[in-house]
Amino acid sequence: MNIAKTAFGFLDRTPIDQYTLTNDNGVSISVLTFAGLWREYNVPSSEGTTNIILNAPDMKNYTNNPFYLGRTVGRIAGRLKDGNFDLNGKNVQVEQNEGNNMLHGGNHGFSDVVWDAETKENTDSLQLILKQTFTEAEDKFPGTMPVTITYTLKQDNSVTINFSATTDEDTLFNPTSHVYWNLGGDDAEDILAHTLQMNSKRHLDVDGEKIPTGKFIDNAGTPFDFTQPVVLGDAIDKMQDTDEKGFDDIMEVQGDATDNRVVTLSDPASGRSLKIFSDRNAVIMFTANSMESGMLFNHGDGHPYEGIALEAQNLSDTPHHPEFGDVTLHANETKSYEIKYLAEF
Ligand code: GAL
Repeated sequence: MNIAKTAFGFLDRTPIDQYTLTNDNGVSISVLTFAGLWREYNVPSSEGTTNIILNAPDMKNYTNNPFYLGRTVGRIAGRLKDGNFDLNGKNVQVEQNEGNNMLHGGNHGFSDVVWDAETKENTDSLQLILKQTFTEAEDKFPGTMPVTITYTLKQDNSVTINFSATTDEDTLFNPTSHVYWNLGGDDAEDILAHTLQMNSKRHLDVDGEKIPTGKFIDNAGTPFDFTQPVVLGDAIDKMQDTDEKGFDDIMEVQGDATDNRVVTLSDPASGRSLKIFSDRNAVIMFTANSMESGMLFNHGDGHPYEGIALEAQNLSDTPHHPEFGDVTLHANETKSYEIKYLAEF
């Protein structure tokens, strides 16, 4: 097992490091100190190794587009209506960075900062430990919140991301990873021939600003039914009469009883697959419908369906829909969320 650190350009004047953790099977992950961004999950293949994550070659191509490629997202992922909520009888106004609403924690969240890094080598795993503290002065959420994000690559080839936080005042915490997948080699242009299976029976109805209305829609008999593996291109074809021309949806999920598996994504052409494990009640599924030319990724110039983001988290906008769950992090409480990914190749 091996850990390497290399320079990866700058955010303004701050130097960014890339850490690469490699296990004894030749599986490796690379993560940036910028945004705790997951750049590579390399698995052995007929080409030597193949990176199954959609990535960009440099900082410019991460920051010149709105797609949150590979970044960690917090304090809360998804959309918060009007960037506003009540907590303990107090009204809180956070940033409105997408029209009236807040998206992915605003512009001063997990996805925008440079994290402090340390590494750890254990008997059967390698870890990258990222730390940063978020304050009300910076991102407008109540409470000073120290956060630790730990990436663990095990000898069984699995990767877990653990998000752990505490706070001195009640606040909100619903983090995720905005990693996009394309399991094909670098010459695979899109994910249309991938198959997707998801343990989801319902998804959320949303309004024109993609804010949940509170209604659930049954997936059965609609293009949202992934209970059995479905070719993504077939499902996306059925979405062509929507504005989105693909999926950007909040799927309610229930993990397998034995291991919390919520998703299996497969690429029949390469024989590779990816399983995602989470104990939270949602996966946001975004098929990169609006990616466009002008950003350079490992699967070519930006274009629709180049990758798929499958973001495990709690259902969005909980302050306005308590029935979706509670993402409050209480004063002096420590909460950890874990998402596990397992590539098979
Ligand atoms: C998704 C969101 C999309 C888009 C994307 C980032 O989580 O649902 O609407 O904002 O993030 O580009």
